[in-house]
Amino acid sequence: MPPGSIRDRMRAQQITELTGPSSALQLGDVPEPDGKHLMTGREGVVVDVRAAGVSFPEVLQTRGEYQVKPDLPFVPGSEVGGVVRSAPEGAGVHPGDRVAAFCMLGGFAEVAVAPEFMTFKLPDELDFAQGAGLILNYHTAYFALKLRGRLEQGETVLVHGAAGGVGTAAIQVAKGLGATVYGVVSSDEKERVAREAGADEVLRADGPWKDEAKERSGGGVDVVLDPVGGDRFTDSLRSLGEGGRVVVVGFTGGSIPEVRVNRLLLNNTEVIGAGWGAYVLGKPEVYVEIGNAVLALDTIRPVVGARFPLEKAGEALELLDTRGALGKVVLEVSS
Ligand SMILES: NC(=O)c1ccc[n+]([C@@H]2O[C@H](COP(=O)([O-])OP(=O)(O)OC[C@H]3O[C@@H](n4cnc5c(N)ncnc54)[C@H](OP(=O)(O)O)[C@@H]3O)[C@@H](O)[C@H]2O)c1
Repeated sequence: MPPGSIRDRMRAQQITELTGPSSALQLGDVPEPDGKHLMTGREGVVVDVRAAGVSFPEVLQTRGEYQVKPDLPFVPGSEVGGVVRSAPEGAGVHPGDRVAAFCMLGGFAEVAVAPEFMTFKLPDELDFAQGAGLILNYHTAYFALKLRGRLEQGETVLVHGAAGGVGTAAIQVAKGLGATVYGVVSSDEKERVAREAGADEVLRADGPWKDEAKERSGGGVDVVLDPVGGDRFTDSLRSLGEGGRVVVVGFTGGSIPEVRVNRLLLNNTEVIGAGWGAYVLGKPEVYVEIGNAVLALDTIRPVVGARFPLEKAGEALELLDTRGALGKVVLEVSS
């Protein structure tokens, strides 16, 4: 956009105060972005947003509890599915392309800007809502399982929160990498979602999942992917076979577990942290490598649960906050 020109306006949800999901957001009429990405400061890919992904970090942002803390007010929303309006010269995507884009912030709006290396063409078989669920959870799952957890074909994986956004993605990535997958969930409805996502077996969080996982895997699983944390962490360690790895991804259960390290020594096991966003931010080549690896798996079909209009972004965040989300929650922004 030339200097001094007047930008069009757009509808966007802004976090205006840090009072939690039900009251922190306000729908407003704000200037469209100027084409520069908010965090890199460089010209990015401008996307007409069709669907915006809703994720746990935005829940935390409504309370000022996430590590990224922009000045108020700001437009949250880390990822979108949409159509390219403009792209920098030499970019891999072009105006009119259907894309999945990771904008980091600014996604709960009619127009968003993403770095070129964080923008991927959307496969024909995926719709915009699925595109809005394709990056954060799937890249995290691949990073956590393959690059951090060193998952190999033929190994066994136990996924906590298996009907959630990260959980359903982890099931599909693990299946695509040739693993046998056990999902752990808290309800019948979530059991159905985890099965539909592709889990080989689904265990109940309030049942003897640790013993069941040990028995079915023939002595203990190779990898546990844990976005939940909390009380079940020690049992996750106990569910591992020799040489097994627990990959720590998040703490939706509320508390951050502590490890008695003698447990690691007894069975030659590991606890590994996986923080995808911080790791890839300064490494565009790793970002692209993970993106291409995910798209090459033939099991990737983002599971979209609830869909809300942009006006109801607060309700969408509350659904995650109250443990009600199935698969990926999305905002339908325009048709
Ligand atoms: N490390 C990274 O790079 C990275 C990247 C993306 C996301 N994350 C983190 O991963 C976590 C999961 O994100 P998500 O988008 O998958 O969330 P989600 O869709 O809401 O799923 C989280 C799951 O956690 C389980 N859970 C257990 N106790 C809960 C509680 N008290 N409140 C809410 N959920 C509870 C629920 O499964 P059950 O009811 O079946 O137990 C729920 O399905 C978040 O902490 C997020 O910040 C980390």
